[in-house]
Amino acid sequence: MQSVKDILSLGPIIPVITLEKAEDALPLADALAAGGIKTMEITLRTPAALDGIRLLTAERKNMVVGAGTITSADGFDKVKQAGAQFIISPGVTESLLSAGKQCGVPYIPGIATTSEALLAIQHGFEFLKFFPAELAGGVGMLKNFSALFSQLKFCPTGGITQANMEDYLGLSNVLCIGGSWIVPAKLIKEKQWEEVTRLVKESLGMAGTKVA
Ligand code: 3PG
Repeated sequence: MQSVKDILSLGPIIPVITLEKAEDALPLADALAAGGIKTMEITLRTPAALDGIRLLTAERKNMVVGAGTITSADGFDKVKQAGAQFIISPGVTESLLSAGKQCGVPYIPGIATTSEALLAIQHGFEFLKFFPAELAGGVGMLKNFSALFSQLKFCPTGGITQANMEDYLGLSNVLCIGGSWIVPAKLIKEKQWEEVTRLVKESLGMAGTKVA
């Protein structure tokens, strides 16, 4: 099992995918991998999500597949059974943090405020999602967190695009960024896999050249 730090260090961008049809999971993962992506998050926002995670973790060993949008403690078991290799929640509660510690799968809690950061620290978590990044103070808030909590490292998501990603990736407390912009839902719906690969290469190229 990889550590959270290893997973968040696999590449600069984690695509956040809301899967409408499980059948799209494998071709999508292949299109992402062809563009250089090694890890992806499937959000638990659709009925197809769990089947998609099952398919991906069984059949695409080249991709590290996480489950996102876990909003209650019982979600941990469900996605663990489906094979999720990491688990992300958009926020934190005592019960999420306790379940995350016990589940045996790398868990990345989401925080947006100083108090939530303190709660995560009290539970022993140092690798966090910052969500919704742009609405919760963006780069300025992460700089503030850096001054307050030098031990914390983040994966910001929420409102990140090609236009602002390098501002985030340039921060010393950001290991990688996540977002849905990198794979527009329309491209999945239309099965435009080559366009997915092209967009991913474009974004990774920018991340690679602009980040020191
Ligand atoms: C998430 O769950 O991380 C977010 O939905 C991603 O935010 P975005 O859609 O604004 O990229």
